[in-house]
Amino acid sequence: MTAVLDVTGLTAGYGPHQVLHGLDLHVDAAEIVVVLGANGAGKTTTLRALSGMIPSKGTVRLRGGEVGGRTSDARARLGLGHVVEGRGTFNHLSVEDNLALGAHLCRGDTGRTQIERWFEIFPQLAPRRKQHAGSLSGGEQQMLAVARAMISQPAMLLLDEPSMGLAPMVTAELFDQIARVREDSGTAMLIVEQNANIALPVADRAYVLESGRFVSQGSASALLDDDSVRRAYLGR
Ligand SMILES: Nc1ncnc2c1ncn2[C@@H]1O[C@H](COP(=O)(O)OP(=O)(O)O)[C@@H](O)[C@H]1O
Ligand SMILES: [Mg+2]
Repeated sequence: MTAVLDVTGLTAGYGPHQVLHGLDLHVDAAEIVVVLGANGAGKTTTLRALSGMIPSKGTVRLRGGEVGGRTSDARARLGLGHVVEGRGTFNHLSVEDNLALGAHLCRGDTGRTQIERWFEIFPQLAPRRKQHAGSLSGGEQQMLAVARAMISQPAMLLLDEPSMGLAPMVTAELFDQIARVREDSGTAMLIVEQNANIALPVADRAYVLESGRFVSQGSASALLDDDSVRRAYLGR
């Protein structure tokens, strides 16, 4: 079976500062894979390199096709969705208009239908459709960011620290909803997180990233039981 995302030897950085030192990873159909890492480990850089926001070396295959040399727009059209760090919703636009922007990759009427569908999936957003995105709570903004990325039905969704800045209860609800979106849509997801307690339980597999290298990988349940992972990322 072809992986939805298959990456080998990914290196990237900023000018002379190399951040990623050759990452190999894959995400299979309908899998949730988590990359765990502390602040500064290179999580955001990994997702930026995968979605083409920064240049990288190595191979990046999306549904079997090499996209490593493509622009971020081209990768989006080929089915790569990206919820960026800090959400990236347009605060001065309404909730509905944020979704409409996400729907620009949909053809014809599908965009409209998809917008209504996402108001059903995230019912908290429906009564706020005319509100500016900036007036939403942090959790609602993150739901909006997920909905906006999912609306064009990507084959692969990259999520950058969805828990950032959210209260634990809100984070738990958001991850429940992310898991449900995966169940319903079968979308493959790559989530980068510091918060192992919340991310590992919804994941199938995980990689542990330290200073731009994977130091450990395995099934989420094996990593939850791993003593060094527990000490470093689970605080117990
Ligand atoms: N735009 C940038 N320019 C230069 N260095 C950056 C930039 N963004 C991140 N870095 C550096 O790259 C490293 C990894 O950062 P990042 O990928 O944001 O880590 P994480 O998301 O895991 O916290 C850090 O040393 C950070 O300072
Ligand atoms: Mg980051």
